[in-house]
Amino acid sequence: MRFEDRTVFVTGGGSGIGRATAQRCAREGATVVVSDIDADGGEATVRAIEDEGGPGDAVFEALDVTDATAVAETVDDAAARHGLDVMVNNAGIAQRSSAIEEFPLAERDRIFAINAKGVWNGCRAAIPHLKEQESGAIVNVASLAGVIGQPWSAAYAFTKGGVATFTRTIAGELGRFDVRANAVCPGFTDTPMVRGELESRDDPEAARETLERQYALKRIGEPEEIAAAICFLASDDASFITGHELVVDGGYSSG
Ligand code: NAI
Repeated sequence: MRFEDRTVFVTGGGSGIGRATAQRCAREGATVVVSDIDADGGEATVRAIEDEGGPGDAVFEALDVTDATAVAETVDDAAARHGLDVMVNNAGIAQRSSAIEEFPLAERDRIFAINAKGVWNGCRAAIPHLKEQESGAIVNVASLAGVIGQPWSAAYAFTKGGVATFTRTIAGELGRFDVRANAVCPGFTDTPMVRGELESRDDPEAARETLERQYALKRIGEPEEIAAAICFLASDDASFITGHELVVDGGYSSG
């Protein structure tokens, strides 16, 4: 059990990839602090973990990652109660398809506040604890969009590319404290975020088939498959990996 006696803090743990990550960590022995702006989703994740009956356990903390003060207070409090070994900055939102010049600045700012500053806030809060104990790992959830770009999603791709660069940068600062930082860059993954996007199309089934054809594996990812990569990078199995961007995309980017 890779996370026995370890505490994992997950942002956006109330849905999709964050929920799958929380469940996977708990299955491997962790105490998981599930945080989310959506209390119903976060509490449902905790219940799902409790229903599995261990070995790990979970608590819910309501948290908006755009609020730097609240993030610091919540992480400090969690560290005091449970300890802190792994910080997973996963909370993020998609953008609706739009040409850059037509995309409202307020929507751009919201995406930057959650996807970019939210990751900054989570790292800023966790780093003092990890440095002090001279161990631990950060995993930031970026996106394939941040690696290869995503036309009509410029704000989203911009923030996700920023998350990857930021992660490499802090890895360079944290290595001397035996703290690692890595990013996972998922391709399309079957979560409420992507289902919502597909359902907004005229023919959702056809849109899904078109999307899936572009993947070498002829399907999009499952949240559990992204969670597996996050847990790998968070665990001692990745003890010599830091500053890395792990693309998990079913072969989409391999042509
Ligand atoms: P999701 O929509 O299923 O879950 C995102 C969670 O983040 C939700 O529970 C939501 O309430 C929470 N959240 C949103 N704003 C928040 C805020 N201000 N503070 C705290 N929590 C907040 O999405 P999914 O697909 O699980 O995405 C998770 C991460 O993975 C995101 O960063 C996303 O950009 C990234 N990603 C997802 C891909 C996909 O195809 N699903 C592909 C590449 C990256």
